[in-house]
Amino acid sequence: MTDDVLKKAMKGIQASLRRVVKKTFSEDPESGDEFIQKVMQKVSTSTDPGAAAASSDLVLEAIVENMKIKQDLFGFLDKMAPEHTVFASNTSSLPIGEIVSTTSRQDRCGGLHFFNPVPMMKLVEVVATSSTSPETAESLLNFTKALGKTPVCCKDTPGFIVNRLLVPYMMEALRLHERGHGSIEDIDTAMKLGAGYPMGPFELSDYVGLDTMKFIIDGWSEKEPDNPIFAPSELLNKLVAQGKLGKKTAEGFYKYKK
Ligand code: 3HC
Repeated sequence: MTDDVLKKAMKGIQASLRRVVKKTFSEDPESGDEFIQKVMQKVSTSTDPGAAAASSDLVLEAIVENMKIKQDLFGFLDKMAPEHTVFASNTSSLPIGEIVSTTSRQDRCGGLHFFNPVPMMKLVEVVATSSTSPETAESLLNFTKALGKTPVCCKDTPGFIVNRLLVPYMMEALRLHERGHGSIEDIDTAMKLGAGYPMGPFELSDYVGLDTMKFIIDGWSEKEPDNPIFAPSELLNKLVAQGKLGKKTAEGFYKYKK
């Protein structure tokens, strides 16, 4: 973790707050600015994860989706954090039980899976592994409620609830297009106007990140190679190989302003 990354993250939080404040304090922008300042004062950053964990009741990890790196981080934090500290991962598709297997507090570990854009999406998936204690599950549920979110309880199964349904749907949209059964634009329009989705599957894939989609589907297809709903897509693989990862690189299925 570098200072630059943390500065960028703080800017991101501030930008999100500005969007919210613009609406909620539209009549009184000065109070809106004060509100932003107050919130920002409560957020502190550190490039030293061990020191940060030493004074935390809850550690929520949202680092790169790599099992070994996550396991190493939790193994390290386990030595630094107090006994009572609960560990949670925001992984989209990796098994939580495996991620925290390097800790000596598996009863105090679970998953807290948020959705993009986090300030707008009300859901949080609270994941209990077979080792998560009822007290830990309860405290994770209470934490999400205190944030003003709605939690759902999930088992530690691939994709939990949302991604297990959403990713195969987005992949099937890709395959539908690859078979020549609909243009990208028409499939998106169809799902928005015919099924009431706020974004079509291609818009949503670009928003989530094509690399993330590929990572999730590759992981599942490795475990269940004969399951057709986990079958890879040539188009997705090609775009990722070209570095066209969606909104974050200004090009995926669509082009975006830089
Ligand atoms: N921070 C704060 N507010 C934001 C925001 C952000 N980052 N992004 C959007 N908003 C707010 C806007 O200010 C606006 O608020 P208002 O309606 O009160 O004025 C509202 O959201 C709508 O934004 P826009 O008018 O700019 O655009 P849209 O109406 O198209 O909505 C959207 C944008 C909320 C992203 C909507 O398209 C949507 O809900 N899309 C589906 C998102 C989704 O499915 N997310 C889940 C992805 S899967 C995932 O995250 C799991 C991971 O593991 C892969």
